[in-house]
Amino acid sequence: RDRINIAIDGPAGAGKSTVARMVASRLQYIYVDTGAMYRAVTWFMLNQGISPENPEKVLQLAQNMVIELKPHENGQMVWLNGEDVTPYIRSHQVSAVVSQYARIEGLRIKLVRLQQQMALDKGVVMDGRDIGTTVLPDAEVKIFMTASVKERALRRFHELSDEGITLEQLERDIAERDRLDQEREVSPLRCAEDAIILDTTHMDINQVVEAILSYC
Ligand code: C5P
Repeated sequence: RDRINIAIDGPAGAGKSTVARMVASRLQYIYVDTGAMYRAVTWFMLNQGISPENPEKVLQLAQNMVIELKPHENGQMVWLNGEDVTPYIRSHQVSAVVSQYARIEGLRIKLVRLQQQMALDKGVVMDGRDIGTTVLPDAEVKIFMTASVKERALRRFHELSDEGITLEQLERDIAERDRLDQEREVSPLRCAEDAIILDTTHMDINQVVEAILSYC
C-alpha cells in the first residue's frame, strides 16, 4: 500500500510517543514528536528568562530559532540552534509550564508550518494534540489515544522515578495540563471528527500498537 500519514493525538501521558515510535518503526516511517518541539522552545525561553506572560518577546526570540528533529535509536533527538537539548526537555520544570507557551498563537503557527513540511512526502507518524484537527487534517489514519488520569499519572511515575515527584503531584500536574490544553483558544486538544478513539486504560503497549496497525 502507498505511504500514508498517521496522526496520533491525546492528552498528556497516554503513551502516545512510545506507541507512535513503535508504529513508525514497524512501518519504516518517520516519527515526529511535536510535543518535543514545544518542550524545546519552552526550555529555551526558561533559559533566557522569558516568561509566557510576554508573548511578544517569546515570538521575537522564536523568530530565528532553528529546531531540528533527528532520528535516534531510542526515540528522537531535538536540536535547538545547533545544540542537542534532548536531555533537558522532559524535566518536571519544563512539563510544568510548557502548556503556557504552547497557547501562544504565533508560536503555534511557526511550529505547525514546520510540522506540515515534515509530512509532505507522507510516511510520517506524528503525535501531539492538534495533529488530526489542525496540522494534518488530511491524514489517512487518525487516532485519539486516551487513558484515565490515574493510569496516565502511574505511567509517567514509572518513567520519572528518579525525580522525587509523588504520584499525587503527577496526577495534579496531568489534570492541570489537560485543562490548559483543552481550554486554550488556539487549536485546543480535541478529538477530530474522523478519528478513531482508543481508550488504553486497560491495554498494554503492544495491544495499542497492533490496534493502530490494523487501521493502516
Ligand atoms: O506530548 P507532550 O506531553 O510532550 O507535550 C507537551 C506539551 O506541548 C503539551 O502539554 C501541550 O501543551 C503542548 N503541545 C501542543 N501541541 C502539540 C504537542 C504538544 O500544544 N501538537
